[in-house]
Amino acid sequence: MRHIMVLNAKGGCGKSTLATNLASYYASEGYAVALADYDPQRSSLDWVERRPENRPPVIGLAGYEDGLRRLPRTADYLIIDAPARSHGTELTDLVKHAETVIVPVLPSTIDMQATTKFLTELKDVPRIDRKQAKIGVVANRVRENTLIFDELDEYLTTARVPYIAALRDAQNYVRAYTRGLGIFDLPEYLAWPDVEQWDPLLKWLRSVRSQP
Ligand SMILES: Nc1ncnc2c1ncn2[C@@H]1O[C@H](COP(=O)(O)OP(=O)(O)OP(=O)(O)O)[C@@H](O)[C@H]1O
Ligand SMILES: [Mg+2]
Repeated sequence: MRHIMVLNAKGGCGKSTLATNLASYYASEGYAVALADYDPQRSSLDWVERRPENRPPVIGLAGYEDGLRRLPRTADYLIIDAPARSHGTELTDLVKHAETVIVPVLPSTIDMQATTKFLTELKDVPRIDRKQAKIGVVANRVRENTLIFDELDEYLTTARVPYIAALRDAQNYVRAYTRGLGIFDLPEYLAWPDVEQWDPLLKWLRSVRSQP
């Protein structure tokens, strides 16, 4: 079973958005997918509850300990939506089950600063330090041709972590979430610019570069 965690101590950067879209992507590919929501806000579970019955199912698991106890052994993918403000021993504990950690970051000075601190902390977690879990950063809600995106792009290119993909700011994500869907469930004529931007991320997730 492939374990993928979406994590950043900074709130509102797109953890739940990435987690739900990943879950619906793998489900649409025919895999058995569990989405564990470790956040008391339960955004991902709320999304699972909204998911229409005629779509490939995603199993929602609540909480940390309980969630993993109820994880079906037959699941091909476990996607974990982690809570914001995870630091110290809590962070070490969270990462214990991850193979791959995706860190979303927004094009904003506050977010970049917070993420720099977070990445330093994350790289010191023994499991990451020993390369038993791999990190990749994804720029989220980007608006091309803005100064702040150029700044984020430059920051991520020079930060010593793999910079995997940049996803644009798009209403498709908001609309899909409300309906319990991912962008991969939307009509192609609407979703193609976003689907295209996921390509490098999905490729990285398939490759050994994202796995211990
Ligand atoms: N690429 C995007 N385009 C447009 N809106 C987005 C995008 N990514 C996220 N959002 C919106 O930004 C808000 C925050 O996203 P999300 O809830 O995924 O972040 P989060 O990191 O899970 O937040 P929290 O730390 O509160 O759990 C949501 O309203 C979401 O719909
Ligand atoms: Mg969230």
